[in-house]
Amino acid sequence: MDETEPEVNTSIQMERTALDAKKFAPSTGAALDKPQPCPPAASESRWPLSPARPELARDEIHAWCAVLDELASDLPAFAETLSAGERQRAERFQFDRDRKRFIVRHGLLRMILGRYLNIEPARLSFTCESRGKPALAGTLDGRTLHFNLSHSDGLALFAVARRFALGVDVERIRPIPEIDQIAGKFFSARESAMLKALPAEQKLEAFFNCWTRKEAYLKATGEGIADALAQIEVSLVPGPTAQLLNIAGDAREASSWSLHPLAPAPGFTGAVAVKARDSKLACWRWPEKFPAAGTIR
Ligand SMILES: CC(C)(COP(=O)(O)OP(=O)(O)OC[C@H]1O[C@@H](n2cnc3c(N)ncnc32)[C@H](O)[C@@H]1OP(=O)(O)O)[C@@H](O)C(=O)NCCC(=O)NCCS
Repeated sequence: MDETEPEVNTSIQMERTALDAKKFAPSTGAALDKPQPCPPAASESRWPLSPARPELARDEIHAWCAVLDELASDLPAFAETLSAGERQRAERFQFDRDRKRFIVRHGLLRMILGRYLNIEPARLSFTCESRGKPALAGTLDGRTLHFNLSHSDGLALFAVARRFALGVDVERIRPIPEIDQIAGKFFSARESAMLKALPAEQKLEAFFNCWTRKEAYLKATGEGIADALAQIEVSLVPGPTAQLLNIAGDAREASSWSLHPLAPAPGFTGAVAVKARDSKLACWRWPEKFPAAGTIR
């Protein structure tokens, strides 16, 4: 999460800020003065635009990406679909840009889920597991969906499945001055060694591959990243495949999961972790504009 929500200040969030570029800044603090990178344009994503009604098969995972700032002109329409609780959360953001991004991504989440369930977005309600993982509430006529979302620097990523628990994470690939020290703290010894052995031009991407793959798994279980990052071992070398290697030393447990690497837009990397040995993935890009009435629920 790359935004300020001052009222919520758990130790977990403080732990999470380890990935914040500010915390990685060298002692000179020079990196703090750098301007924020611009989010990508949606058109830079190589993911195809979604069909009006994508079919989600029982063994499939669908991932969606969206550039939140491009959808901000439709803010009132997104805001209308939110619950009172979501609106209160939105109001707590210190910065206007972060408040708008929150409204758009939660409105989008409702639209995406509503599309699969054939339910008006505003009629969906959510509940939270013990460590904050959101889930759909209510019986929904016996149907439900597993979902998770992540965002980084204005890019949102959503993942949806009918049958499998899943977690998703995305990060902008950005400079990290003390990359080996950070890896030493949060990665396993094997991951740190793999990272060190890579040529300089692959290191940053590999670092963020590693981070997002671990976090995707810890979001799939709902545990969060507080204590367990170093206990999850993943592959990290840039390429078209990804693998969960170990979960707290248990390679057998790891093999009952699948891990899909995601490249939603240039300069971003992510992953979706799925509690299933095999799962098929389809990736979609959200249209730039709020869909015309009647094309989406
Ligand atoms: C979940 C967590 C890894 C997210 O970190 P992040 O990289 O900053 O944020 P991301 O953008 O990837 O994901 C945020 C989204 O994940 C979802 N989420 C929140 N808690 C989650 C959890 N425990 N597991 C899975 N998903 C979670 C939410 O949809 C959230 O979106 P929102 O803030 O717009 O509502 C981190 O906040 C964490 O470890 N939380 C655990 C908190 C905890 O242990 N709480 C105990 C007391 S409640």
